[in-house]
Amino acid sequence: MNKKGNYGIDSPGIVATLVALGFAMAVASRIVHSGWRWFACGLAGYLLLGAVGMLFYSKVGKLALRERLLDKIPWRGDEKVLDMGCGRGLLTMGAAHRLSSGTVVGVDLWKRGAVSGNRGESVLENARVEGVDGRVEVREGDVRALPFGGGTFEVVVSNFVVHELKNRADRRQMVAEAARVLKPGGHIAIVDFMFTDECVEDLRIAGVQAERIRDGFLSFWISAIFNFGLLKTYHVVGRRPV
Ligand SMILES: C[S@@+](CC[C@H](N)C(=O)[O-])C[C@H]1O[C@@H](n2cnc3c(N)ncnc32)[C@H](O)[C@@H]1O
Repeated sequence: MNKKGNYGIDSPGIVATLVALGFAMAVASRIVHSGWRWFACGLAGYLLLGAVGMLFYSKVGKLALRERLLDKIPWRGDEKVLDMGCGRGLLTMGAAHRLSSGTVVGVDLWKRGAVSGNRGESVLENARVEGVDGRVEVREGDVRALPFGGGTFEVVVSNFVVHELKNRADRRQMVAEAARVLKPGGHIAIVDFMFTDECVEDLRIAGVQAERIRDGFLSFWISAIFNFGLLKTYHVVGRRPV
């Protein structure tokens, strides 16, 4: 691969808020006295480090995370692949590079604010830049009601979309849709920092053998510790029996 696509900044609004609050706390630490000064200093550091962490994820971390996830699939090269909630095509392009004759479809509603420059055209532009445009398609659609027939795909992947669905019914519906469009013998790989236990349960209910595997040792623990154990990144990998 020569040139790399641009996969944007995730949750740019949150990054901007963390930076603004971090600087506000840094200024406050110069004004307030005694114990409050250290509290404001600590909070400023925590918020600014959070912003740096999110930027690092957007520019470096998610490219490595993508490869760790895609390594869990035993690729042949001729698969028809679906990327659910593809954004600017992070997993779409990762999968396309692993194919020789197969194709990848990226589906999304391209919600504003989820990723900077979140548009279908950004996926196609990234495909052109990375020289895989012959293998990539985009389709506007809701992950809770996929515009495909049952058993269409040999591989279904998704990165950080599950947590965007706000209630259990929606998440169950997304997982049921992933299972529905998966061919017998097909593989599924989903990654998220929330609700991955639900995904395993819902996949099993939908007839897919699934398990949850911690993301890389360092990335898992850094994120878990920094987020007081609330956010833990797991890969959910599964296979529909033949
Ligand atoms: C955090 S972004 C991740 C994008 C991409 N998978 C990546 O890793 O860069 C979450 C994506 O899910 C999409 N999304 C959220 N809810 C959706 C829904 N109900 N149907 C389709 N896409 C959805 C958003 O538009 C956004 O592109």
